[in-house]
Amino acid sequence: MKFFRKGRAIVQAAIAATKLNHRGGHCRLYGRCTVVNDGVFTLGDYFCAKDGVSLVSGHGAELRIGNRVFMNYGASVYATHRITIGDHVLIADDVRIMDTDSHDVVDHAKPGKTAPITIGNHVWIGLRSLILKGVTIGDGAVVAAGSVVTRDVPPHTLVAGNPARVIRAIDAHVMRQEAWMPTAIKATSPMDPSAPIRE
Ligand SMILES: CC(C)(COP(=O)(O)OP(=O)(O)OC[C@H]1O[C@@H](n2cnc3c(N)ncnc32)[C@H](O)[C@@H]1OP(=O)(O)O)[C@@H](O)C(=O)NCCC(=O)NCCS
Repeated sequence: MKFFRKGRAIVQAAIAATKLNHRGGHCRLYGRCTVVNDGVFTLGDYFCAKDGVSLVSGHGAELRIGNRVFMNYGASVYATHRITIGDHVLIADDVRIMDTDSHDVVDHAKPGKTAPITIGNHVWIGLRSLILKGVTIGDGAVVAAGSVVTRDVPPHTLVAGNPARVIRAIDAHVMRQEAWMPTAIKATSPMDPSAPIRE
C-alpha cells in the first residue's frame, strides 16, 4: 500500500488503513512509504519513518516495533516469520532487515531458511547495513555502516564489517538519549531528551 504525504491527518489515516494489530500514538510516515500487514503487525508510540521506508509483515508472520523507533530514508523491514524491534531504535538509510533467505541455496525453487530476528532497545543500525535471519542484536549495540550482521551482537558493543565482528564495547552510561532522537520525535516527545540511558 503506498502513501503520499498530504499532512499529518492523512499520514495517520494511512497507517490506520493498513489494519495494524496495534498502532501507538504520534506515528509519522513522511513521503512515500510501503506498509503491508498479512500477519501480525504492532507499532509503538512515536514511530517515525522517512521517504521510501518499507514495512512488511508477510502471511502468518509477526512484526513488532516498539516505541520511539526511527527509520531513515529507504530502510526496510521484511518479516516472513518473526521480527521484533525494541524501543528507541535508530535505523539509518537503506538498512535491510529480513528474516529469510527467500530461496534454498541448492534448489532455488524451494523456500530458503528462515529464523526470527530480535533487535533490543537503544540500538543504532548504521547506513546500508544488512541484518540477516536468526540474529539477535543486544540492547545499546551499534552496527557500523555497511555491516552484514549474520551472528548475534552482544549488548553495548560496536560491530562492523562483513561479516560483522565486535570492534569494541560501548559504555552505556556515557551514551545519551538525544543522540537517538531525531527532531521529529523530539518535537512531540514529552520525555526529557537529555536524559542519559541507564540499563
Ligand atoms: C559506528 C561508527 C560511528 C563508529 O565510528 P568510530 O567510533 O569513529 O570508529 P573507529 O573509526 O574508531 O573505528 C574503529 C575500527 O573499526 C573499523 N570500522 C569503523 N567503521 C567501520 C565500518 N563501517 N565497516 C568496517 N569497519 C569499520 C575502523 O576501520 C577501525 O578499525 P581499525 O581499528 O583496525 O583501524 C562508524 O563506523 C559509522 O558507521 N559511521 C556511519 C554511521 C551512519 O551510518 N550514520 C548514518 C546516519 S544515522
